[in-house]
Amino acid sequence: MTYERIDPEPDPFEVAVARFRNEGGKGLNITLPFKERAFALADCQTARARAAGAANTLEFRDGQVFADNTDGVGLVRDLVQNQRFMLQQKNILLLGAGGAARGVMLPLLAEQPARLVVANRTAARAIAILADLKASCTVAGDLMRRAEACGLEAIPAVPFDVVLNATSSSLTGAVPEVPQGVFGPRSLAYDMMYGQGLTPFLRLAQAHGAPYLADGLGMLVEQAAESFYLWRHVRPMTAAVLQQLRAELG
Ligand code: ATR
Repeated sequence: MTYERIDPEPDPFEVAVARFRNEGGKGLNITLPFKERAFALADCQTARARAAGAANTLEFRDGQVFADNTDGVGLVRDLVQNQRFMLQQKNILLLGAGGAARGVMLPLLAEQPARLVVANRTAARAIAILADLKASCTVAGDLMRRAEACGLEAIPAVPFDVVLNATSSSLTGAVPEVPQGVFGPRSLAYDMMYGQGLTPFLRLAQAHGAPYLADGLGMLVEQAAESFYLWRHVRPMTAAVLQQLRAELG
């Protein structure tokens, strides 16, 4: 088996996918900025890909293209299995309303939190992604009622058990302007970005007293493991991979 990085350019993404398939490729992981186009070109999409409106995994099988999205499951597995942080009956704050936030809402709700607040700098985008989720998918009404959307300034001033950063703010060294009170003495702050040392968001959370800090490296590894499972029906062990990547990041 070989697994390599492919840059589709200068061809259109769809042309590059078709060529890979014709050459005998079995499946692909898709990263930014092509996840929506991967979703659109597939013949069948899983519920979690539909909820995300984007695919990070394609599989060529039985003459068809199947699209899935393992990002949200990767996040949940990192939280629950690697961080040992259960989400049932917890208050979750999800910051951001781009593709990254959208991709994880359904799997987070499936964990049955007490409350999921989706908050974004542009409130209308948070409201829109929640409305899309309600319209598109199979979440039970009871679970859906636990989700709400607002602007950053309207975040309820209570400590959340988990504060997830799904904004791209860390890329520019910025942080989302959240009310200080969202971090409590038992909060886990989780940045879906990763890098060497603490991200700006994790430094903010630490300064505001959050005792548990995690970046998105575990999510990266777990979403990849889930994709591998889809293609090969074997679930890879992730701990050693995560350890090695962490060591390489320094
Ligand atoms: P992605 O698909 O990676 O999520 P995106 O669709 O460009 O990327 O979305 C980026 C997200 O980060 C948005 O929620 C954006 O907020 P707006 O919708 O208000 O633009 C958020 N974001 C980026 N920089 C930010 C910052 N400095 N503070 C707060 N939110 C920020």
